[in-house]
Amino acid sequence: MIDGKTRICGLFGNPVEHTLSPVIHNTLAKRCGINMVYVPFLVDGDQVKQAVEGARALQLLGVNVTVPHKSAVIPYLAEIDREASLIGAVNTLVPVENGFKGYNTDLSGLYRALVSEGISLSGEEVILLGAGGAARAAAFLCALRGAERVYLLNRSLEKAQAVAEEANLAAGRQCILPMELSSWKSLPEKKYLAIQGTSVGLAPNTEEAVIEDRDFYRLIHTGFDLVYRPANTRFMRLTEEAGGKACNGLKMLLYQGVEAFELWTGLKVKEEDAAFCYEQMKKELEKNE
Ligand code: ATR
Repeated sequence: MIDGKTRICGLFGNPVEHTLSPVIHNTLAKRCGINMVYVPFLVDGDQVKQAVEGARALQLLGVNVTVPHKSAVIPYLAEIDREASLIGAVNTLVPVENGFKGYNTDLSGLYRALVSEGISLSGEEVILLGAGGAARAAAFLCALRGAERVYLLNRSLEKAQAVAEEANLAAGRQCILPMELSSWKSLPEKKYLAIQGTSVGLAPNTEEAVIEDRDFYRLIHTGFDLVYRPANTRFMRLTEEAGGKACNGLKMLLYQGVEAFELWTGLKVKEEDAAFCYEQMKKELEKNE
C-alpha cells in the first residue's frame, strides 16, 4: 500500500530497464515490513549532478548507481566510504547530514556471496580472469580483504598490469600478479578459487568460455562466474565437469542489494529473507529468457 509515509529508493543508470534491483528491494521491503518503493531512474551522463541534488531535495531514502555513472557520481557526494574511495566507484548512496555518503556494495556483496558459498578469502589463492569493470571489483576485494595471492589473467596483459598495480597500491601489498591468459599453464599445481570476470559466455554467446582447455579446470576447487545470464555458464559447466563446485553471479547481485538495503534501513536482513529474494530474482530472470 502506497500512502503518505511511503519512502522512495531508486536506481540511477543508463540503461536501466533490464535491472533486477526493483525485484530485490521491493521484495525485501515487503518481507521486512518497510514502507518504501524502489524504482529505476534513467539518468543521462550530463545530468548526474542534478540527479544527486534532486535525490537530496526529494529526500530519497537511498539510491543505487549503476553503469555508466559509478565513478562520475563521486564528485557530488558529501562523504565516501574507504573501500569505495580506493576502488574509485560507488554503487550505493546513503543520506547523511550534508548530502549522500557513497559506498561500494558490489565489493562487499561479492564478499558475502563468497561467504554464503562457504569461501572465506583469507589465505585463499585466487585465479581471477579478466580486467574489465567486473573483474576490477573482484581484484580490489581480494587485495583489500586478505586473499593470499591473486593470479590476474587477462587477454590484454597491459590491462591486467594496470588493475594489479592499482589494487596492490590500494591494499599496500604486492598480492596481485598480472599475467597473460595463456599463462595459466605455468601456475603452481594446486587447487584455486577461480573468479570468472570476463564478458565471455554472456548471453547470447552461451557456448563460449574464456579458457576452453579442460586441464585448466582441474586447477579449480570453486569456480565463481560473475556472469548470471545464462544461469549455468559454460565456465561453470567446465568447472563442474572437472570435479569443482560452480556458482554464478546472481548471489553477488543479491548481496550487493541486501547490503544497500541494510545501509538504507538500518536493518539486518535475515538469511531466510535473502533466500526468498534470490528465488524471486531467479523467477524474474526466467520470465525474460
Ligand atoms: P565488464 O564491465 O563486464 O567487465 P569490460 O570492462 O568490457 O566488461 O571487460 C571485458 C573483459 O572481458 C576484459 O577483461 C576483456 O579482456 P581485454 O581486456 O583483453 O579486452 C575480456 N574479454 C572480452 N572478450 C574476450 C575474449 N573473446 N577473450 C578473452 N577475453 C575477453
